[in-house]
Amino acid sequence: MKKIIVLISGQGSNLQSIINACYHKQINAKVVAVFSDRSSAYGLTYARKAQIPANIIIPNTFTDRQHFDFVLSQEIDRYKPDLIVLAGYMRILSNFFVNHFKGMIINIHPSLLPKYPGLNTHRKVLENGDLEHGLSVHFVTNKLDSGPIITQKKIAIVPTDNEMSIIKRIKHQEHIIYPIVIKWFIEGRLIMKEEQAWLDGKKIPI
Ligand code: GAR
Repeated sequence: MKKIIVLISGQGSNLQSIINACYHKQINAKVVAVFSDRSSAYGLTYARKAQIPANIIIPNTFTDRQHFDFVLSQEIDRYKPDLIVLAGYMRILSNFFVNHFKGMIINIHPSLLPKYPGLNTHRKVLENGDLEHGLSVHFVTNKLDSGPIITQKKIAIVPTDNEMSIIKRIKHQEHIIYPIVIKWFIEGRLIMKEEQAWLDGKKIPI
């Protein structure tokens, strides 16, 4: 059985959707461990409920990012994972970490990348009066919220929207799309090659 590690920092609703998809065999793999950089991350409770090891590694106990990521990578290596899923993990990864797990880290980001990398994407969409917004799933490379895009989903912004209503609609889509992408990867259909995402032997044209 293939092994998935999920990194979180917060609520963990995407983690829960991945755990569910594994439980219902939509994804033929197991979440073998969850890591959080925050002890308060609510998502840890989802891991514990599913009897998945819930590890907390707090950054400010380390000298620098490199050191933190080195220890995190060693802890992750113990599980011999096939895939590392960032699910609301709000730390920038060091080059060391990204290179160590090259081609096997994916991220979900609440914007139509390359638009709005970083934080507060929903607020920026509202402030700029955008008529559409969305989410992106991508392989992780050394640039923040960058890396080959695997898939995107657009949503329309309506005049009555606020940050909460947008978050709700985006997350609803995330919970559908992320398990599908993970399934592709686990089945060997999705790979990163030549700094591009490939599905079923074809470059993903995004
Ligand atoms: C998700 O909306 C995800 O796209 C975003 O954090 C949220 C986590 O929600 N990720 C990023 O902003 C990464 N740059 P969750 O904790 O409920 O899964």
